[in-house]
Amino acid sequence: MTLDSKSPLDGKRLLLIIGGGIAAYKCLDLIRRVRERGMTVRTILTKGGEQFVTPLSIGGLSGEKVYTDLFSLTDETEMGHIRLSREADLILVAPATADMMAKMVAGISDNLATTALLATDKPVMIAPSMNSRMWHHIATQRNLAQLIQDGVHLIPPADGDLACGEVGAGRLADVDEMVTTLEKFFTPTGPLNGKHILTTAGPTYEPIDPVRYIANRSSGKQGYAIARALRDLGARVSLISGPTSLTEPTGVETIQVETACEMLTACQNVLPADVAICVAAVADWRVSTSAAQKIKKQNGALPPLELIENPDILQTLSQAASNRPSLVIGFAAETENLMAHAEAKLQRKGCDWIVANDVSVINGKSVMGGDHNKVTVMTNTGSEDWDNIPKDHVAEKLAKKIEKHFT
Ligand code: CTP
Repeated sequence: MTLDSKSPLDGKRLLLIIGGGIAAYKCLDLIRRVRERGMTVRTILTKGGEQFVTPLSIGGLSGEKVYTDLFSLTDETEMGHIRLSREADLILVAPATADMMAKMVAGISDNLATTALLATDKPVMIAPSMNSRMWHHIATQRNLAQLIQDGVHLIPPADGDLACGEVGAGRLADVDEMVTTLEKFFTPTGPLNGKHILTTAGPTYEPIDPVRYIANRSSGKQGYAIARALRDLGARVSLISGPTSLTEPTGVETIQVETACEMLTACQNVLPADVAICVAAVADWRVSTSAAQKIKKQNGALPPLELIENPDILQTLSQAASNRPSLVIGFAAETENLMAHAEAKLQRKGCDWIVANDVSVINGKSVMGGDHNKVTVMTNTGSEDWDNIPKDHVAEKLAKKIEKHFT
């Protein structure tokens, strides 16, 4: 990878945990090299790590505060250990000592580094470094096998001269090797690699006054599942989300909005895209002017609310004179005359496919907010029914269909 082309590390956030090994000095170069490639690096320096490198040198190279102490009031006020562990795209432990690996396996959280590792919901990678006998010891190998089974990624140690004077496996991987592994980790692979897909999800909130809004029952589950399924096929996904209680999917650019107008602007800002999928249940109307102060009751007289129509995002994207995605997919949420209404929406809005979505009750449960869905996908080549299947399966099937469209 030359520095002229955009590195897959560009814009990614690394939380680097520097363990107590003599090879900790290599992390200084690692920080410099990944930052050159556009990555931001936050660091936790363990007590052991501090014996080999200083917070000053690390902070100077990373351009960020270096975190060291679990019970530091200032650290916790600025950035709690939970946030620290989650505001990263990857946690890399380098050097990962035998002790650190054992603690990770056991789920011990006796310092900031181990606590962050236990609290994270992000991928974790280790670059072990230790004496060769320690590396080959059955306990370390057992711990390694468990960590790999737990989904931890590995940058294997190299063979060679060790600081202790022995020769063998256990050297921290070279910085080049670590950078290459990180780049590979962040290089999307999969059949939709290279495609940019925009997905809207969730409801929109249209303010009436500072405390009230017009909304609907959409949970966002179907749109988020579609974003994850497309990411898993290698697409670059921009998820424009109305207010939901869902966790932002990792590896997806998620833009949070509230109103329909904000959703449209956010969609237009992420164009160009190869595909747009409008899953959001956009409020059809908004109050023409939301009140600056809370509207008070007035002796039984109802407040007049003048409603005006919101922009239709699906229609705007489908009929755009420039930057129209080559495939635009809409959803038609209906409670009756499903196919007729969906067909009419397809024509009226000018999208390419429409997913006719029966939002009545399935097995006594509402589709809005539930985990199952009942859809008919209408494309130019025909239609398919996916009846009463989990929203995750609808998402995977739709993602596969999009993949097929491009092959
Ligand atoms: N949609 C949109 N912007 C709007 C309204 C709807 O992008 N202002 C999109 C939805 O994301 C969905 C499709 O249009 O992909 C159909 O939405 P739906 O709520 O089923 O239909 P409406 O257009 O709102 O029409 P109606 O309320 O008459 O059913």
